[in-house]
Amino acid sequence: MTFAMPGGASRNAGPILYGPEITAVADALLAGHYGHGPLTERFERDLARFLDVPDVVAVATGTAAMHLALLEAGIGPGDEVIVPSLTFCSTIQAIVATGADPVFIDVDNNNLCVRPDDVLAAITPATRAVLPVLYSGRAVDLTGIQHHLDARGILTIEDAAQAFGSDLNGRLVGANPHVVTCFSFGPMKNLTCGEGGAIVPRTPQQAQTLRRMRTVGIAQTLAQRADSTTYDVIGFGIRAHLQSLNAAIGSAQLAHFTHARTIRQQLWRHYTQALAGVPGAEMTDVDIDHTVPFNCVIQVPDRDQVLRRMRAAGVGVGVHYPPNHLQPAFARWTTDLPVTEDIGRRILSLPFHPSLRPEDVNLVVAALHDALSSRNP
Ligand SMILES: Cc1ncc(COP(=O)(O)O)c(C=O)c1O
Repeated sequence: MTFAMPGGASRNAGPILYGPEITAVADALLAGHYGHGPLTERFERDLARFLDVPDVVAVATGTAAMHLALLEAGIGPGDEVIVPSLTFCSTIQAIVATGADPVFIDVDNNNLCVRPDDVLAAITPATRAVLPVLYSGRAVDLTGIQHHLDARGILTIEDAAQAFGSDLNGRLVGANPHVVTCFSFGPMKNLTCGEGGAIVPRTPQQAQTLRRMRTVGIAQTLAQRADSTTYDVIGFGIRAHLQSLNAAIGSAQLAHFTHARTIRQQLWRHYTQALAGVPGAEMTDVDIDHTVPFNCVIQVPDRDQVLRRMRAAGVGVGVHYPPNHLQPAFARWTTDLPVTEDIGRRILSLPFHPSLRPEDVNLVVAALHDALSSRNP
């Protein structure tokens, strides 16, 4: 994939490739390890060590991680799950897939994450879970309302698809024992497996159930099946395991994660400096000292005009995300969310990928400046 730059230059917009991924995938192919296998289990151990947690369950995607975490919690028809509308649609699809009802709430105008007070205000007797989205990688802190959630038996299952490597007051996202964390390791994520995801479970029982659910309901582990002529299908399951080929990429990438963190934070800081001179452009507050930023989302007036002008100048800008409560598929659950609707008209994602250089950022910001100053009233 290439990334168009003003002036016709182009830069690879893919993830960072460190090199060992190629050997790791070749080794897996030669060993005949394609599907779920020892490399998947090694990746789980690597992740658990990195996060300093007892266990991690690897799955096929971030969407599957949330779907399975919700199902494992017993969430289904008649239950409500509180969720921001400003997220990728797969967060909502994961809730809807369980038969539960998403209850859309607004987000903070500055950091684009849910506010604890809005979570509390949305609670009803049917609320079973809250699903905060760690927008741009910023950790969401619900500790101030944890006792309210506990008192009502409401679980927190977080969408940390964009937040691998970020922390909350020094504790890595994924290591909070009050929260079930779901990561994505898709192509553009802070850590990539090509495609992949993971759930950080909170009990051995939960881990066991999730492992059964990701392998079509089969009870036995890989090792247990090696000596057996049969297996037991003991409950619900879908096919959502992480393939060895993808796990091999993930383990190789994880070994270099410090580099990814540094590059992403540097890029963000460079954007902060460059955008300071652009009237009308407001950056998202990602709490950069604690966040490995996934993207660079700003708010601008007349966004559609600015977006078109920047694309015409060759800059690959986008919108993350069109609000979900306004999507046809989720019309049943729509509600009035004035902040999200305003943000939805103003957000603009600037190019943000590890191979961008400071001079590229300057070109993007110059194009933004031009687009903003030449827009029609
Ligand atoms: C906020 C958010 N949630 C969920 C997902 C879904 O993850 P995946 O693509 O791995 O299913 C993504 C990424 O695509 C995301 O950015």
